[in-house]
Amino acid sequence: MTEAIVLSLPDDAAFGQALAGALDAEHAEVSWRHFPDGESHVTLPDSLAGRSVVINCTLAHPDPKIAPLLFVADAARDLGATQVGLVAPYLAYMRQDRRFHAGEAISSRTFARVLSSAFDWLATVDPHLHRFASLAEIYAIPAQVVHTAPLLGRWISENVGNPLILGPDAESEQWVSEVAAGINAPYAVFTKTRLSDREVRIDPPDLRRYAGRQPVLVDDIVSSGRTLIEAARHLEFAGFPKPVCAVTHALFGQDVHADLARSVVLIVSSDTVAHPTNAITVSHELGAAVAALLSSTTTGEM
Ligand code: R5P
Repeated sequence: MTEAIVLSLPDDAAFGQALAGALDAEHAEVSWRHFPDGESHVTLPDSLAGRSVVINCTLAHPDPKIAPLLFVADAARDLGATQVGLVAPYLAYMRQDRRFHAGEAISSRTFARVLSSAFDWLATVDPHLHRFASLAEIYAIPAQVVHTAPLLGRWISENVGNPLILGPDAESEQWVSEVAAGINAPYAVFTKTRLSDREVRIDPPDLRRYAGRQPVLVDDIVSSGRTLIEAARHLEFAGFPKPVCAVTHALFGQDVHADLARSVVLIVSSDTVAHPTNAITVSHELGAAVAALLSSTTTGEM
């Protein structure tokens, strides 16, 4: 067993156990309660002196988690941790990556500055990189990124016959092309215009030459579900069977899962965000990413 310890926020304990298993490390849960006025009170194990501490907290629906997460990171150092890293299987605030309208905050940058000041390194899964080429553009700490394309591809090849891989927008081409290449399937990408938080317009490409194939919509995030629902509507109109959806981060707002389920034949997701659709685990790949970060820190390569 390594000297590292994985500390999970309470909702993240199941993933934390799997991550600790992959790392052959101890796992413990942080205790987090609220005072009557709503302020957070966190308690960590009193056995962190001289150890590498890996804090595991997925950052879906992040705002209530930020203060306790920062308290845990700071307390770990105060209790003698030699290094404090963050595993955020889903990394929040990557989509507000520019000022789309006058006066808007560029939250990606601010969030990156805050996390970079609290942690020594970061491991995450498929961060939404669109206008930033890499996390290094905004994060000042070493980061390791796990890509789910091979995992999604493996699931598709084992579970879907004659697949056609489809991306709902131009941004998705980066992972859709990788999924398709890995399993030797064709792919195509729709065009998307976002009209508001819960409204998108999707323009499909000409898919006639793929008639007879099973469409598989692949996206990094499902949130309001409108992107996948609109894409599925166009597929039905074009005479395809209901699509399978394979997504990395199952953010799912309220009632979205039920709405989407009516338009598709099956939805699967990776376990970066705990959800009933989770069918693909990233714990082994994240374990390997964390092991690389821990060893480069110890050998001074960071
Ligand atoms: C957008 O750029 C992402 O890749 C997803 O397509 C998007 O976040 C999905 O959001 P929603 O489910 O709200 O349409």
